[in-house]
Amino acid sequence: MKLSVDSHEPARVKADLLALPLPTLAAGGRLPARAAALDRALGGALALAAQSGDFRGRRGEHQIVYARGRTGPRRVLLLGLGDEAKLDAEGLRQAAGRALGAAAGRGARQLAIALPASRRVPAGPAARALAEGAVLAAYRSDPWRTRREDEKPPVARTTLLVERASDLAAAREAAELGTVLAECQNLARRLSNEPPNALTPEALAREARKVAGEVGLTVRVLDVAELRRRKMGALLGVGQGSQHPPRLVVLEHKPRRGRTRPTVCLVGKGITFDSGGISIKPSAGMHEMKHDMSGAATVVATLRAAALLDLPLHLVGILAAAENLPGGEAYRPGDILTSMSGLTIEVQNTDAEGRLVLCDALHYARTTWEPAAMIDLATLTGACVVALGSTACGLFGTHEGLVDALRRAGDAAGERAWPMPLFDEHREQMKSPVADLKNVSGSRDAGACTAAAFLSRFVGDVPWAHLDIAGTAYTSKAGPCQPYGATGFGVRLLVQLLQEWPRLGLG
Ligand code: BES
Ligand code: MN
Ligand code: ZN
Repeated sequence: MKLSVDSHEPARVKADLLALPLPTLAAGGRLPARAAALDRALGGALALAAQSGDFRGRRGEHQIVYARGRTGPRRVLLLGLGDEAKLDAEGLRQAAGRALGAAAGRGARQLAIALPASRRVPAGPAARALAEGAVLAAYRSDPWRTRREDEKPPVARTTLLVERASDLAAAREAAELGTVLAECQNLARRLSNEPPNALTPEALAREARKVAGEVGLTVRVLDVAELRRRKMGALLGVGQGSQHPPRLVVLEHKPRRGRTRPTVCLVGKGITFDSGGISIKPSAGMHEMKHDMSGAATVVATLRAAALLDLPLHLVGILAAAENLPGGEAYRPGDILTSMSGLTIEVQNTDAEGRLVLCDALHYARTTWEPAAMIDLATLTGACVVALGSTACGLFGTHEGLVDALRRAGDAAGERAWPMPLFDEHREQMKSPVADLKNVSGSRDAGACTAAAFLSRFVGDVPWAHLDIAGTAYTSKAGPCQPYGATGFGVRLLVQLLQEWPRLGLG
């Protein structure tokens, strides 16, 4: 789908469907000035819908009316935004998603969406949110479906209409940013949704290479021989039960001009399938563990965005990719792995594999780049899902400023990250009677915290934050901008943070 911004009069626009987002109408169903003007040109159909009470502008409400004007759109979709005082970017994203859904359901190829005339949301932010919503809603999660006889063709173009020509430049720039972000989020979704027979660690490395080539990132893939040379015993241990060997992928963005400092490292858990290994998981829902590389997918997509937006910092993305399977070669409970850091780890549960692949990746990041900060993303614990559900990811860290900045970036981007504690007691619980560490605490209590505490042993004094995205990376609840499956969570949050980085005073 193509997306553009124009300053046409809604009454003159040539589109199969014109979407008109409106906040809750005043008593009696009086239309706001701009909608009333459009209504006069279209023959009065909008006022009828509003005055009859069939459309009140409540959030999520929508109503199709057929226009009788001589020019202009045939169909108008009235979209409720709800209370104007509460209108935010997420409300606009969803409105655009609803518009796209309504257009696609009717076989409309050309969609126009009028920017809402609201003092609360200026043209730029409104255009950005609508662009994000439209591009996210255009994402198809079923590339493997081969029979589509009864499917309507997708929307070919969405045009956002700004009222004043003086807003056009700002709206275009903002919509461009929104489009890039949503396309990158869709890339993360696509990778996470791929089936695990297709997306093996090698295939994930290949996908990363392809993205790097397209946008001008440098890429390096460490194979098993290289991982052995670097003594990444934890990552190798997790991967050894699979026919598809592990990989460590390094993507790098350097700004085209200006400073190549500071360096920020993003680390993603890339378990392409998590069966649990010898400590095998129950079979119900196990197929969802194809999403256990969502952290890595988000890192690839964020690096893509960084290159396209030419973010002014040196960004390193590290994917710790492996498949966790049982078998004759698999690592076992009782094994002691020697991590790259030299710390030895007693494996008490092969299903706690995420922290193992991450600990080598974090140590590698710290010792290779001495970064100003490291942030890892991982579908790490079921305990985090129990704690926070799907409305926020868990946010842990060793540096208050970084944690704070991530929380604010999440709020701004509409991807919530909620602070969780990391106590010395949690670290204590990860000590093994026979090695430096064990990979599980042995109790279910504070499972997300003890997992984070394990990771914290590998970050030295580099400011570090950890996002546990187990509850937010995929969903079975579809929404206007979100089909069943991977969400692409974290891309918007991270880009928001990195855009602000020079002003955050974090080095
Ligand atoms: N990938 C899972 C965590 C997970 C669970 C992600 C549910 C998404 C939804 C992780 O590797 C895992 O299995 N964690 C274990 C840790 C336990 C053995 C200490 C868990 O959460 O049960
Ligand atoms: Mn696991
Ligand atoms: Zn896992």
